[in-house]
Amino acid sequence: MLWRISMGWPAVYLHPRYFPALPLSTPPIIGPEALPALAERLRIAPPSRLFVLADANTARDCYPRLAAYLPAHELLTIAAGEEHKTLATCTEVWHWLTQHEADRHALLVCLGGGVVTDLGGFCAATYKRGLRCIGVPTTLLAQVDAAVGGKTGVDFQGFKNHIGVFQEPEAVFMEPAFLSTLPAGELRSGYAEVIKHALIADAAAFADLRGLAVAAVPDWTPIIRHSVAIKGQIVAQDPHESGPRKLLNFGHTVGHALESYLLAQPGRAVRHGEAVAAGLVCESWLAAQRGLLSAAELTQVREVVAAAFEPLGFAENEIGEIAAYARHDKKNQGDVIKCTLLQGIGHGIFDQAVTVADIEDSLRAYLTK
Ligand code: GLY
Repeated sequence: MLWRISMGWPAVYLHPRYFPALPLSTPPIIGPEALPALAERLRIAPPSRLFVLADANTARDCYPRLAAYLPAHELLTIAAGEEHKTLATCTEVWHWLTQHEADRHALLVCLGGGVVTDLGGFCAATYKRGLRCIGVPTTLLAQVDAAVGGKTGVDFQGFKNHIGVFQEPEAVFMEPAFLSTLPAGELRSGYAEVIKHALIADAAAFADLRGLAVAAVPDWTPIIRHSVAIKGQIVAQDPHESGPRKLLNFGHTVGHALESYLLAQPGRAVRHGEAVAAGLVCESWLAAQRGLLSAAELTQVREVVAAAFEPLGFAENEIGEIAAYARHDKKNQGDVIKCTLLQGIGHGIFDQAVTVADIEDSLRAYLTK
């Protein structure tokens, strides 16, 4: 039997082994009503001062639309890009808040993709031990993943998200119209997480993705709502990732290894979602090797990924070095690589021990199929 849980979130059916459900935080507001709802929230619960953090892209493409719903505020625009997700940028934000005498009743609105929402959330959580924070994610990746679940932080000395805290913003407002400002590759990057959510928790949602043309989706609102609901329900059961939240790492053991390896090769960096999409295929292959996924299901995963993503470019003689990156994954325990796999489409299983050799085999299968 599948359990239906909603408690304020759109209903999602999850397998009973991941229970009991815990109280959920406020669900994000998703759709054209998001920015008016943000304005209403600010009217009902006005902050002492209002601050908006954007990056160079969102300040240009999204801020004018947001600003129309905001009372008087200060804007800080940081440089765009993962390379600026650093403590140096945090210092810039903390300095700006200090200069403007922000107190703990001030509110920081983070307008951007994962870099802005992660970094801004971290700055808000730590400034004077915490000021109010609201997320307004503007990319598909941030809407379905980064801005949901309270992970905040920055990269440090080459390690992604190495410094950070779990801290939910007080609310999240998602305007899908912002997605029209994104390059196609950026949209696809977020789509990998949509596929992942369906694969780990919702076979019917995965069936809906078969035949979907990412570039031609007229309105992302229902897809975002459903994907966010899946993630929200999982996070609510395990906010600090000691159990079921690890399901969300499906595709990321191999995906992170590919992303890190290619980032270290000049001119070969790929988007997070491109690497995760390849990771979804590799880790589905591992599940199939263990008899957890049927050959037909593996083919379906390959087809849904191939409909949106070009094959990732790496060569047979790089596989050893790529797989070695999986040893450094945050999810591992000692020398054992802990991976999330699938037990059929729609049912993730976490804490599955895999070896570096398994990961190498999955990368080899990816190249040959
Ligand atoms: N992106 C995975 C998580 O939030 O747990």
